[in-house]
Amino acid sequence: MIVRSIAPEDAPLLRRFHATLSEDTVRNRFLSAKPQLSRSDTRYLCNVDGQDHVAVVALDPQRPEVILGVARWVRYPDQPARAEAAFVVADRAQGTGLGSALAITLADLAVERGVEELTGSMLSGNLQSEGLFRRMGGDITVRRQGITNDVTTTLPPHTGRVERLVHRRRMRPGRRTTVVRARPRSAAHAA
Ligand SMILES: CC(C)(COP(=O)(O)OP(=O)(O)OC[C@H]1O[C@@H](n2cnc3c(N)ncnc32)[C@H](O)[C@@H]1OP(=O)(O)O)[C@@H](O)C(=O)NCCC(=O)NCCS
Repeated sequence: MIVRSIAPEDAPLLRRFHATLSEDTVRNRFLSAKPQLSRSDTRYLCNVDGQDHVAVVALDPQRPEVILGVARWVRYPDQPARAEAAFVVADRAQGTGLGSALAITLADLAVERGVEELTGSMLSGNLQSEGLFRRMGGDITVRRQGITNDVTTTLPPHTGRVERLVHRRRMRPGRRTTVVRARPRSAAHAA
């Protein structure tokens, strides 16, 4: 698996990826139906500054034009040590450890940029997503907000857990995700 920062040129790849997602996956990611990404959605999702808005894509090295997962966080303007994170993995790749690998990549990028807490809004019962927040930090705080849960995790003050995760996954039979962090396409997009 190749993981690199998202770039503006990924817009068509992201639209294609979104079109392959099941309704349930889209609803869990966006908390509503979204049959396709609009032009402005795509512009926002692909144009990150690498500092206050960080996003990575996971690509199959055999078919690098196919996105298999996307993870991002966006810093709260009024609370610079906190950011909101979101993830999505292609239906066919869910349950293979890819979401966990992306979560730990995101957590490392957050700690490197001074983010201490990551939050996420998810439909209650989305245990996979809660699991990702637990992986990034440890204990999580869950606050019920009607049909959604707001989850917060406090990040440990060190990085470098991607390599450890990859090592551990290799040791576990049946898990298939191996991550290579690719060089950023440009200095503006740290990955
Ligand atoms: C949430 C999501 C990104 C997780 O990606 P993934 O590649 O399936 O994640 P992993 O394989 O690393 O599994 C993450 C956790 O969910 C568990 N899990 C995975 N698939 C599962 C399934 N079908 N049923 C129950 N648990 C499952 C894993 O055991 C793991 O738990 P652990 O950390 O306790 O071991 C993915 O399910 C997804 O895209 N869901 C739709 C969008 C969404 O919910 N986004 C989050 C909104 S913030």
